[in-house]
Amino acid sequence: ASAEYAPAVVVGSGYGAAVAALRLGEAGVKTLVLEMGRLWNAPASDGKVYCSMTAPDRRSMWFKTRTEAPLATFLWLDVINKDITPYPGVLDRVRFPNMSVYVGRGVGGGSLVNGGMAVTPSRAYFQEVLPQVDADAMYATYFPLANRMLGAATVPSAWFESTEWYKYARVSRDQAKTAGLKTVFVPNVYDFDYMQREAAGTATKSALAQEVIYGNNFGKRSLDKTYLAAALGTGNVTIRTLSRARAIRRAADGTYVLTVDRLDDTGAVVGTDEISCRSLFLGAGSLGTTELLLRARETGTLPALSPQIGRGWGGNGNVMLGRANHIWNTTGANQSTIPVMGIDDWSNATNPVFAEIAPLPAGTETWASLYLAITKNPERGTFTYDAAKDAAVLNWTGTQSAPSVTAAKSLFDRLNSANGTIYRYDLFGDTRAFAADFCYHPLGGCVLGRATDAYGRAVGYDRLYVTDGSLIPGSIGVNPFVTITALAERTMARVLAEDGVG
Ligand code: FDA
Repeated sequence: ASAEYAPAVVVGSGYGAAVAALRLGEAGVKTLVLEMGRLWNAPASDGKVYCSMTAPDRRSMWFKTRTEAPLATFLWLDVINKDITPYPGVLDRVRFPNMSVYVGRGVGGGSLVNGGMAVTPSRAYFQEVLPQVDADAMYATYFPLANRMLGAATVPSAWFESTEWYKYARVSRDQAKTAGLKTVFVPNVYDFDYMQREAAGTATKSALAQEVIYGNNFGKRSLDKTYLAAALGTGNVTIRTLSRARAIRRAADGTYVLTVDRLDDTGAVVGTDEISCRSLFLGAGSLGTTELLLRARETGTLPALSPQIGRGWGGNGNVMLGRANHIWNTTGANQSTIPVMGIDDWSNATNPVFAEIAPLPAGTETWASLYLAITKNPERGTFTYDAAKDAAVLNWTGTQSAPSVTAAKSLFDRLNSANGTIYRYDLFGDTRAFAADFCYHPLGGCVLGRATDAYGRAVGYDRLYVTDGSLIPGSIGVNPFVTITALAERTMARVLAEDGVG
């Protein structure tokens, strides 16, 4: 049977994939993008493309019968999660033993669901994590390019200081200061002009209407509005949705052949396509890309792939926690969902922590402060291929999360003791103060310079590339999408110059 052919195929449509698609399209290479999620552009019967966090429906999650939000309970009450109809919704929670990984599903990948925090890592830590990458080129060229393309900007400080919508961040800043801790403004891709119009009542509210994690209807410059729109604009890029790549093999003529399952809205496989290409770019994210390559190696379709595939995974040391404030120290019923400030204690020699001050947009006063802390957890997980399930399984033990909790606890114990406050024990479905058994920042599995060369070229095969978060060895010290984007820009510049792609 003659397979469908495209000179280049990109699997996924998150950060790494979107950069690959744009730069291929600009270079005149006809490119097919395969995305397992939907295109999020059509309003449902309520007039909105996405549902809010407080009233989730089937659009919220990827084929679940009940939502699985990071905060499980409030005052130990099961008031957060709701029953839903299975549907190709925008947020997935992939459950492995001892670790759940949140990922975005749809055209734009994680950019659809994330908080938009656009953070460039410290140069010293970047060099520690990825010593084989030329830091001069990254900091002079690729980080600035990524930030510009993504539309990163900082909240106007006068508005931040005066608006009720960021009172929660100012309260946390004051408490950090009392403990002698430094806070920093964190750039974001959300349009702050739009947010100010939301506050003024002249634009439909999104960040100010409890929208994030299940998508933002307005204001956020997700990839479908930036890189992917530009990629389609080249006229050389096509995006095919509800198409999940499963197998990769190599034909005798050197082309790659992908087996791609077509899904319907119930999740059923309604057809299978065979698509061949000369050059293959994997941007399916840390879980997706690692699974595709591990399956190819273990089932023998790409046997020369590196034994390093599947290794070097980490959740960026993610820990979530809440603190209870004094009754007089209100954080406000009105909270913007878009974080703009962090506690930066990364230079702490024993327990480096970068903690974003997260909203708890309940619509009522909660007397709580919420944080997503990034810590320097040295533990790494490994994926193995489970033949019976035909899936990659992450091996991560509960004790591997302990260093994340220890680091976060050292910072927030300090903050609590300086302010006479305590933790919240009612948020994670039991009585834990710290949740380190889920992450927003899956990194690694196909680590740069080990499973690939220094530019994401897979070891063992030519014209096979990895462009996403699986390249970063488990930790980057800040929210990762700017780094993923910048590394992908660096890869594409090199590959298009040297490899005769397409
Ligand atoms: P990404 O995960 O973005 O994209 C992979 C895509 O491939 C997905 O669309 C997926 O559906 C698709 N796919 C997977 N397997 C496939 C297959 N076999 N076939 C076809 N398609 C397939 N980061 C940050 O820097 N700032 C922030 O504020 C936040 N906040 C945040 C909040 C939440 C709730 C989450 C879940 C995540 C964040 N992040 C974040 C993390 C950030 O979103 C994440 O690091 C990037 O999206 C990862 O980019 P990648 O290119 O690696 O893949």
